[in-house]
Amino acid sequence: MNWTASVTLSEAGAKALAEVLGDDEDLAAHAVDAAETTPGRWRLMVYFPAEPNKAERAALKRHAVEALGKDGPAFAFEALADADWVAMSLEGLTPVRVGRFVVHGSHDRAVARIGDIAIEIEAAQAFGTGHHGTTAGCLAAIDRLARTRRIHRALDVGTGSAVLAIAIARLAKVSVLASDIDPVAARIAAENIRLNGVATLVRAICAAGVDDRRFAVAGGFDLIVANILAGPLVGLAPPIRRRLAPGGTIVLSGLLVHQANRVVAAYRAQGLRLVRSDVREGWVTLTLALR
Ligand SMILES: C[S@@+](CC[C@H](N)C(=O)[O-])C[C@H]1O[C@@H](n2cnc3c(N)ncnc32)[C@H](O)[C@@H]1O
Repeated sequence: MNWTASVTLSEAGAKALAEVLGDDEDLAAHAVDAAETTPGRWRLMVYFPAEPNKAERAALKRHAVEALGKDGPAFAFEALADADWVAMSLEGLTPVRVGRFVVHGSHDRAVARIGDIAIEIEAAQAFGTGHHGTTAGCLAAIDRLARTRRIHRALDVGTGSAVLAIAIARLAKVSVLASDIDPVAARIAAENIRLNGVATLVRAICAAGVDDRRFAVAGGFDLIVANILAGPLVGLAPPIRRRLAPGGTIVLSGLLVHQANRVVAAYRAQGLRLVRSDVREGWVTLTLALR
């Protein structure tokens, strides 16, 4: 059963807290989302695949004090019954159009028009319906890249629902490795890959980072996308670089505006240059290429 930890605070507070949470490697497997609920008030939510344990609760408390001071608001914890979770996800599940992609649920199949690349993602326990600024930013970057160059082999790190891996496979008709640290996400990714008819191209695996030998493909990946969080993205810069083919491109998201410089610096140190930076709903998507 999924759980959330949420806290309502100012925009500056939400940004400060999201930054410290992003730096915590132990909490990195969980999606963090921040959205303005009423003018000037932001709700920051941390998603957990199971009830947060003592250490995770203590870490959240510690980070809240670090970012907001000891008089700052406390996290409220809530279990999401499966039905609630699905209902909640479906609420926002109007079809999303980004570039040539339209991401929709099964109830909205009719929205696809001629020329669209339709991706069907059912509300489930994995992140990635196309609605979040990070997912939409990555979809836009993939659409743009595929217009200007050929993609030969891609890697989607932190695949969640597999929305990005499916998008690449449908657009470029190339093989894609889709990985996630969370076994539930990896299972849902595999289901979505089958549902979208790209099982011959996309393989979903459960793995933390990209060190595993299943990532050691000859020649490397010429497109790597990773929508995770700033902290883990910085840590993953050297291993991701090692998986990149000569002339390859990396698309990164999951970072807030004030975290972008730190992430760019980590990838510059690996010989990459920033090609483009786009912001959606406060979330930055970076496109980087080998120098
Ligand atoms: C924000 S979601 C992105 C999902 C999807 N790619 C999208 O763009 O909508 C981040 C995903 O990364 C996974 N993740 C976090 N840290 C990871 C790591 N070190 N290695 C692999 N996956 C990771 C999480 O389990 C989660 O499913």
